[in-house]
Amino acid sequence: MDKLLIEGGSPLKGEVAISGAKNAALPILCAALLSKEPLHLTNLPDLNDVRTMLKLLAQMGVKVHRESANSVTLDGSTIDNPVAPYEMVKTMRAAILVLGPLVARVGDARVSLPGGCAIGARPVDQHIKGLQSMGAEVTVEHGYVHAKVPRLRGARLFTDMVTVTGTENLMMAACLADGETVIENAAREPEVVDLANCLVSMGAQISGAGTDVIRIRGVAQLHGATHRVMPDRIETGTYLCAAAATGGQIRLTGTSSCYLDSVIDKLMDAGCEITPEREAIRLQAPRRLTAVSLRTAPYPAFPTDMQAQFMAINCVANGTAVIRETIFENRYMHAVELARLGADIKIDGNTAVVRGVERLEGATVMATDLRASASLVIAGLVAQGETLVDRIYHLDRGYEHLDEKLARLGARVRRVR
Ligand code: UD1
Repeated sequence: MDKLLIEGGSPLKGEVAISGAKNAALPILCAALLSKEPLHLTNLPDLNDVRTMLKLLAQMGVKVHRESANSVTLDGSTIDNPVAPYEMVKTMRAAILVLGPLVARVGDARVSLPGGCAIGARPVDQHIKGLQSMGAEVTVEHGYVHAKVPRLRGARLFTDMVTVTGTENLMMAACLADGETVIENAAREPEVVDLANCLVSMGAQISGAGTDVIRIRGVAQLHGATHRVMPDRIETGTYLCAAAATGGQIRLTGTSSCYLDSVIDKLMDAGCEITPEREAIRLQAPRRLTAVSLRTAPYPAFPTDMQAQFMAINCVANGTAVIRETIFENRYMHAVELARLGADIKIDGNTAVVRGVERLEGATVMATDLRASASLVIAGLVAQGETLVDRIYHLDRGYEHLDEKLARLGARVRRVR
């Protein structure tokens, strides 16, 4: 199993290109199930989660033609096996995103329940409730969700909480339903908007994506399209944090500050100078960061997927930060690992109090989930001496060529087997 060996202490300096967004690419890949005509995608991130999703779609009958690491054409003319097996869903929860498109297109889907994961229970009851309201007969048997319906019908849907993949699943399902669907309390995340843009270019009739009420008028069929996946705002934020924590100066290209207001605000509060450009962002870090408190919440508030990285920068900032995690109940797994590097963190329920220390010291740490791993890498880049981050397969799920990109910015990192 690969590990990442980091020799800390070098400020990140230079320029690096940001990849396409994982959380936009995964639902957009599933959109290929909705059409008999090919969907061509560019700016696809070269990630393990993307490979898993392509394998899953191929098992269902989709013809996958990967022209390059960052582009693919999906031909969904034949879907003959509408099943997402446990082996795939357990490694990538986002596999649940095939449920809506499959029911809408072939009227039958069997998708394994994701089960628990490191960051909490994460049920899919809202996805199921929405499909039932659209007329699907849904049973849960032997760990699988089985949904059936001759044709979905449009409905007024309300989700109990803001759910990103729930909104995406129901929005995709509604594209081929009979009549109008209204999703209330919809997620406003930019990735939902990117998916909606792709669906619209395939002929879907969607309005309101990016607000909390999305209206979809069902059509008989969708056609082929070409779509460029939006830049990854979480990858962007992660590199900004890494540069901020190491006292660096970087320029990130192929990305935009417009998806990152809450994150950029906090980095500026921490003392960073940030210059947004048309398709790039520059960051100049201060000599030492100031601690910044934050509370995670659905977009446009501070993203839960940036919480761990901000915990890492607060570990070495001047002052004390209070972090509140309101989306996932168990998303502080990185705190004990950061403590192994010398961080001072107290957890009480969903609140973490981080007292900044003068310095961290390298140690062996274990990655527990994707963004937790990113926080350990950031801490390792700051720590004195060597940090070995174990189980980096989590990072390979969601960060394209992380070690190479960091090395390009002057970090001393090496992948070891
Ligand atoms: C997506 C992102 C993930 C991010 C999260 C929150 C993808 C592929 N993943 O995950 O990176 O951390 O949004 O921004 O886009 N919930 C239920 N029942 C449901 C659905 C959700 O109780 O049916 C709860 C979850 O347990 C969680 C909250 O709602 O507490 C939000 O989860 P959700 O937005 O659905 O997260 P994901 O879409 O899985």
